[in-house]
Amino acid sequence: MNLPPFKLERYFAKYEFNTEFLLCSSDCEAMSIADLLAFEEGAAEKLQNTWLGYTESQGSPALRKEICNIYTTMQPENILVHTGAGEAIYLFMHAMLKDNDHIIVHSPHYQSLSEVAKGIGCQISPWLAREENDWALDLNELRHLMRTTTKAVIINMPNNPTGYLMSRTDFDELNKFVQEKKLLLFSDEVYRESEYDPAIRLPAACDYGEHAVSLGVTSKTYGLAGLRIGWIATKNKKVYENMASLKDYTTICNSAPSELLAEVAMRHRQKLIDRNLGIIKTNLAVVDDFFAAHSSLFTWVRPQAGSMGFPKLLKGDIEKFCDDLVRKAGVLLLPGTMYDDSRNHFRLGLGRKNFPQGIERLNEYLGKKQVHDSPIFCKICNYSYFPSIAGESEHHEKFHESAVKGIQIRISKLDRVIAKNNDYQLIIIDSNSTLPQFNRLNKISKFISASLFRDNFTYHVRLLFPVVPEHKFFLLCTKSRIIGYFDIKFFPKKHR
Ligand SMILES: Cc1ncc(COP(=O)(O)O)c(C=O)c1O
Repeated sequence: MNLPPFKLERYFAKYEFNTEFLLCSSDCEAMSIADLLAFEEGAAEKLQNTWLGYTESQGSPALRKEICNIYTTMQPENILVHTGAGEAIYLFMHAMLKDNDHIIVHSPHYQSLSEVAKGIGCQISPWLAREENDWALDLNELRHLMRTTTKAVIINMPNNPTGYLMSRTDFDELNKFVQEKKLLLFSDEVYRESEYDPAIRLPAACDYGEHAVSLGVTSKTYGLAGLRIGWIATKNKKVYENMASLKDYTTICNSAPSELLAEVAMRHRQKLIDRNLGIIKTNLAVVDDFFAAHSSLFTWVRPQAGSMGFPKLLKGDIEKFCDDLVRKAGVLLLPGTMYDDSRNHFRLGLGRKNFPQGIERLNEYLGKKQVHDSPIFCKICNYSYFPSIAGESEHHEKFHESAVKGIQIRISKLDRVIAKNNDYQLIIIDSNSTLPQFNRLNKISKFISASLFRDNFTYHVRLLFPVVPEHKFFLLCTKSRIIGYFDIKFFPKKHR
């Protein structure tokens, strides 16, 4: 099977652990093992005594029993535990689909929900949610997508990335349709139980009958992605057995400590839901204000559930916007192109505690961007600059005045700017600059944003883009002003 790269996961692999504000995470705020164990007396001791042998392939009986409480008609024998939801998606597709089968997939969607089937040789029809319909799915469209070879309908609600949740009437009808057509319904419910109003929570698909498979995980609503515990719930014996049999070729069984921790988490899941919904709702209030203030730049369909929304950028290209934002401001947004969306949407993640600070940083960035969308050409030093990066124009003029008079510029204060990659160490040779040197600044084509700290006489600078050896001078700016410019020597990290 030929699987292309998982675009979203590759994007996260590039930025997730080196970016200050992840403003597009799908999961809710995690917690430590100690905090989780504190939910239950004796849990810490149980963890200490956990036996580190192989575990039962279908998942520990105690964990499966706890998972059943999420559903109304499930028994432990209906639950098959996996290593994350990702493994369950992979195994379901391999267990139940073959070359040339046709499936209908709720779109936009988490890539593996269609890609694994595509890799097997299936035909895929997207069942498209549209922003103009508040991301709602249309059951009539589903009827038209049906073919004689259709085997399964794949849905994800609450939806990643739109936050859409179907009405109860439509969900009943969808289940009825799938049953009548003798299809399988694979219902990715990893964001279930994060509805902002519990009254709109849908029943789990698996509770409708044997046609359905519900997918769950500890990662999202419960905020425990590091456990890597996911599961399917289904009364369909064939699906269960086929998946269990394939699992022998992937992970065989699950991590014993994770199963114990997931069991504790599921027993206290209401506490996790309350905590994480609290974070989401606080963030929603912040983001509502944000979008109200930037209504000419974005459209925003407020999600009904889950930890995500899928706004649209109205000006410019979303990939370039996200790229510039992460490099200049340390804020990560996920371009909709990772979902094959070509309409300039991006994913916003609402489940993290530092979301308000991330939005503040985004606001700052937008404030600057509006100013420096067009550069100002400076006649004195003969190059273009962006006022909001290089300082207020008033300050810029003062800077020139002093330079023209030949006054040396000294560093008086080193402001923290924006930290990013750490590829180079800069050693400042001469922190005093003279007029002839100033004129040579023309040759520097880019402004540098950097964070800088001092260690004896060496200044270490983290750069947002690599400096090339021809750059003989280093111009240091804060967000609002020029601090100074310097002769530099730099060494790639590996030569240190
Ligand atoms: C809709 C959906 N399904 C499945 C998964 C996989 O979950 P996990 O990474 O916990 O296995 C994700 C993760 O983002 C998801 O958003």
